[in-house]
Amino acid sequence: MVKIGEAEQSLLKEASKALANAYVLWGFGVGAAVLAEDGKIYGGCNVESWVSGLGICAERNAINHAILHGNKRIKAIAVVIDAKNEGEIKPCGACLQYISAFAESSEIKIVMAKVENTQVLFETVKIKRLKELLPEPFEK
Ligand code: THU
Repeated sequence: MVKIGEAEQSLLKEASKALANAYVLWGFGVGAAVLAEDGKIYGGCNVESWVSGLGICAERNAINHAILHGNKRIKAIAVVIDAKNEGEIKPCGACLQYISAFAESSEIKIVMAKVENTQVLFETVKIKRLKELLPEPFEK
């Protein structure tokens, strides 16, 4: 089991709250939360659409939520899915690129976990650095 601090726990709890609002039509729910430069946590859930390409992932909604509140940089991000999903939880490539555009540094933590009945299963927590998951982001 990975040892996590208070900041990571708060992020995971906020991501779990966001997961409860995921708008799911064909896939599965995802919740995310970012720690922004103002020290606050902003959540986001995925929103699906029947029109291909119109949906949006939880991570990008959480980042946009932080931006709406005047932030331009994020210090950490958490992503959660329900434990009934067998697959592993990790941000998709598009989200990694988006995270990279707003991350304070390539060292920021991506905290991932599964959730059961809105409770974070702390034994499922995994933490990776952004640079591990996206070693060579696109840069202008
Ligand atoms: N999804 C996310 O919200 N974040 C990711 O990083 C990967 C996938 C969403 C998209 C879709 O609504 C659902 O998960 C199933 O693919």
